[in-house]
Amino acid sequence: MKLLVTGGAGFIGSAVVRLAVARGYAVVNLDALTYAACLENVASVADHPDYAFEHVDIRDGTALDTVFAQHRPDSVMHLAAESHVDRSIDGPGAFIETNVTGTYTLLQAARKYWEERGRPEGFRFHHISTDEVYGSLGDTGLFTEETAYAPNSPYSASKAASDHLVRAWGETYGLPVVLTNCSNNYGPYHFPEKLIPVLILNALAGKDIPVYGAGKNVRDWLYVEDHADALLTVLEKGKLGRSYNIGGENEARNIDLVEMICAILDRVRPANRPYASLITFVEDRPGHDLRYAIDPSRIRQELGWRPSVTLEQGLEKTVRWYLENEAWWRALQDRDGVGKRLGTTPNGG
Ligand SMILES: NC(=O)c1ccc[n+]([C@@H]2O[C@H](COP(=O)([O-])OP(=O)(O)OC[C@H]3O[C@@H](n4cnc5c(N)ncnc54)[C@H](O)[C@@H]3O)[C@@H](O)[C@H]2O)c1
Repeated sequence: MKLLVTGGAGFIGSAVVRLAVARGYAVVNLDALTYAACLENVASVADHPDYAFEHVDIRDGTALDTVFAQHRPDSVMHLAAESHVDRSIDGPGAFIETNVTGTYTLLQAARKYWEERGRPEGFRFHHISTDEVYGSLGDTGLFTEETAYAPNSPYSASKAASDHLVRAWGETYGLPVVLTNCSNNYGPYHFPEKLIPVLILNALAGKDIPVYGAGKNVRDWLYVEDHADALLTVLEKGKLGRSYNIGGENEARNIDLVEMICAILDRVRPANRPYASLITFVEDRPGHDLRYAIDPSRIRQELGWRPSVTLEQGLEKTVRWYLENEAWWRALQDRDGVGKRLGTTPNGG
C-alpha cells in the first residue's frame, strides 16, 4: 500500500514515515519544509526504494494534483500543520492559511483524484488532529469523541476548523475520511521549542528551566512512536467517517513532569547540583488551558490499541535520545524563534 504522508519532515509525521516504511508501506513524504521541519528526521529511510520526498506546500493545489497523478497513493495521512500554540498567539495568520486553507486545498485535491480513479472503497483520507479542539477540562472528567468542540487558542481553533472541513467532505462528497484527536506527544526528534525538549536542553545547559504559571496545567502525555503505531492502526482498521481519541493514559502536571525529567537527568548525567534547583516559574501563557485528558476507550475497545510505554519509561528513552543526538538538536537551535519566549503578546499580529 502506498501512503501520501503530509508533514512527514516534522516531529510526528517523521515517526509515521519511519514506522510505515519499516512495516512495508511505500511512502511519499510531502512537506513544505517550514522552520519546524528537519529532513534528518527521515534520514534513516531516505535511500529506501519505497520512499519518496516531495517539497510541496499543501496550499498549492496545482502541485498537489501533480503529486497525486505521479504517485497514485492508496491513502493520505494528513499531518502537515503549523503546530506551536505560542507561535499561534503571536502570528495567527499562518495557522489559518496552512491548517484551514491548506487542509481545504488538500481535501479538494484528494477528492478530485479519488473521483477520477472511480471512488475506490479502500481509499482513506486520515486527518490527524489534537485534543486541544475540545478546550480545557476542570479537575475531573475526560475528553471523549462526543465532547463538544471549544478551542481556546488560534492553533486549536484552526485545527478544529480543519476537523470540521474533513468531516464535511466525508458527509457531502462521500470522501472516505477518518479522524484522530491526540493528546500531547513527546519523544525523539521533538523540535527544541516544545516543552519537553526545552526542559531537557535548558537543564543540560545549566540554564533556568522555565515553568509557565504555577506549573499546575495537566497534560496527558503520549510517546510519539506509540502515536505513530495508533495512527497506522486507525488507518488499517478504523471505521469510515469515525473519529478516534488517542491518549497515553499518562496525566501529569507540568511541575511533576519537570521534576521527573530532573530526576532522570540526576541519574543519567549527574551535575554538581540537582537539576531541580534550576526550575523557575515564568509568566503564564494567555488563555492557557488548565487540563487535557483523553478517554481512549473507543480506540482500545474497537481497535485493540493501547500505548506500549508508561510516562516514566518514555521520558527516560527521550532524555537518553537527546543525550545521544546532540548534533541533531544543536543544528536546530539557530532557527528563528528557538530559545526565545514566544506567545506572551495576545495582541500580536
Ligand atoms: N505535537 C503534538 O503533541 C500533537 C498532538 C496532537 C496532534 N498533533 C498534530 O499532529 C500533526 C503533526 O504535529 P507535529 O508536532 O509533528 O508538528 P511539526 O510542527 O513538528 O511538523 C509539521 C510539519 O508540517 C510541515 N508543514 C507546515 N506547513 C506546511 C504546508 N503549508 N505545506 C506542507 N507542509 C507543511 C512542516 O514543514 C513540518 O515538517 C499536526 O497536524 C498537529 O496538529 C500534534
